[in-house]
Amino acid sequence: MCGIIGYVGKRKALPILLQGLKRLEYRGYDSAGVALLERGGICVVRRAGKIALLEEELSGKTFEAFCGIGHTRWATHGIPADHNAHPHTDCRKTLALVHNGIIENYRALREKLLSEGHRFFSETDSEVIAHLLEGSGPPLKRILHVLPLLEGSYALCILFADEPGVLYGVRRFSPLILGVGEGEHFLASDVPAFLEHTRHAVFLEDGEIVRVSHDGWEVFSEEGERQEKTVTVVPWDPVSAERGGFKHFMLKEIHEEPRVFEDTIAGRVNLARGEVTFEELEDFSGEYNRVVVVACGTACHAGMLGKMYLEDFVRIPVDVEYASEFRYRDPLVGEKTLVVAISQSGETADTLRAVELARKKGAQVLAVCNVLGSSLTRLAHWTVYTRAGLEIGVASTKAFLAQMTVLLLFALFWGRKRGTVSPETLASVLFEIPTIPRKLHALLAKENDVHALAKEFYLFKDFLYLGRGLYYPLALEGALKLKEISYIHAEGLAAGEMKHGPIALIEPDVASFVLVGQGERRLKVLGNIEEIKARRGKVIALCDEGDVEVLEKADYTLEIPKTLEPCSPLLAIVPLQLFAYYVALEKGCDVDQPRNLAKSVTVE
Ligand code: M6R
Repeated sequence: MCGIIGYVGKRKALPILLQGLKRLEYRGYDSAGVALLERGGICVVRRAGKIALLEEELSGKTFEAFCGIGHTRWATHGIPADHNAHPHTDCRKTLALVHNGIIENYRALREKLLSEGHRFFSETDSEVIAHLLEGSGPPLKRILHVLPLLEGSYALCILFADEPGVLYGVRRFSPLILGVGEGEHFLASDVPAFLEHTRHAVFLEDGEIVRVSHDGWEVFSEEGERQEKTVTVVPWDPVSAERGGFKHFMLKEIHEEPRVFEDTIAGRVNLARGEVTFEELEDFSGEYNRVVVVACGTACHAGMLGKMYLEDFVRIPVDVEYASEFRYRDPLVGEKTLVVAISQSGETADTLRAVELARKKGAQVLAVCNVLGSSLTRLAHWTVYTRAGLEIGVASTKAFLAQMTVLLLFALFWGRKRGTVSPETLASVLFEIPTIPRKLHALLAKENDVHALAKEFYLFKDFLYLGRGLYYPLALEGALKLKEISYIHAEGLAAGEMKHGPIALIEPDVASFVLVGQGERRLKVLGNIEEIKARRGKVIALCDEGDVEVLEKADYTLEIPKTLEPCSPLLAIVPLQLFAYYVALEKGCDVDQPRNLAKSVTVE
């Protein structure tokens, strides 16, 4: 995790580095630091805590450098402390580097370096790289010599005192992107870090090294051979990296959901022809006998919903696995398996490794991803973009809505292709789809009701989220949202499982958030509400508008506009996300940067 940035150009580097680091702060915020190449040599300033503290440390100091690197950290090796903050240097301060990733063999390397007389200043794995690079000779040659010694994952940004005005970037299993400006260049873990300066980007591949100066850049392989690369124009608008009047990115991103839905379906749903199309899937034959979904966290919850859509509409067996489990087994996938990998960032290490394993076993991979050109999209045979736009809040919201939308459309598309979805069934869903943005707006307009409810519940210590069918993955997601930003214990459950154990937890100070749903399951869930009430538990129920029975039974209700059952998760998610947001707000938690978390988990 961690965010890294580098700048070389004609402007003063420090403000650009700090601004870029703020854009990357979602990747980690335990400590931060910068290294600048000043006249007198390399100057490093670093500080435990958020970037604001680093800014405090830097205030009043003047730096002239036009070239520098910066880092915001999510601690893996070594506690968050000043001395463990990046950048790290060699003993003689001839170079400075920032690292995102993990050097797995750092202990052995450190022992060897210590025995050779190197002195270490931190407990990090990253510092060994600085010591290994110490020496003389052309920096590129030194880098090429050191890389084969490193095991693990790394994106590095390095500056050498004896090659002023030049930065090196290296990528292996951690993202690194080159931003190409006019008379200036940027290196960063993610595009938003330089989006205000340029939309021209070069996505580096694993094993590539880039050398950048203010007026040029070259990419090399690990063997030192020059590589041809293309410059991509990133479609994101810099304004999307601002909070735009909202108190938090998370709230802004929830409010973007109606537009995200429209963007996600654009060009894919054709009402007049009664069709769902994906131009990305022109050569998708659909000739598989099984689907395995791999993903983590929120993306995995979308995958669980995707299983239900695919099994219902395509009549194909689907397994859903946490990527972190899948990759350490010997999973039964082969040529007849379609692996669907879901990821907002496209950089989640567990998901990437799971996809690599699936590919090795002969499976074909369809990525459902939000970030253009990310590592996942380069590993997959097909990518369907979720088009949610830049998501900055650590708690994923609009990307989840877009993932659910893509999975619903994909199941309909494949079902039509396979003949398991009739034109009538497809038409009924397609006619509902244009109503969704209006219904999402209606839900957002009732935000104050959710806030009022949050005020009643923010002091509760335990929550159960219960749902059946399509609402079971939503129960898991509702619970995840609450725990990650408000630090309240919350458990998502298949409502039918409650009587097999969790019912023992029910007492007056345990809150149950019950997702009522439609169809034959509705009555069963009403039964669950009765069971909780009989044990004096508090019930918040989420139900369809005008469901009088639920209004009578539950202590509190949140209603969603009526819709077709397959579309109901697209609406039900909004009150769940808003509830988590407002509970966290009432508790005074740091919503966009919750403790211990980072948005992209690029370590295993
Ligand atoms: O970028 P990805 O979708 O691959 O990320 C997967 C999870 O790390 C992510 O969904 C995480 O659970 C979020 N913090 C959820 O809000």
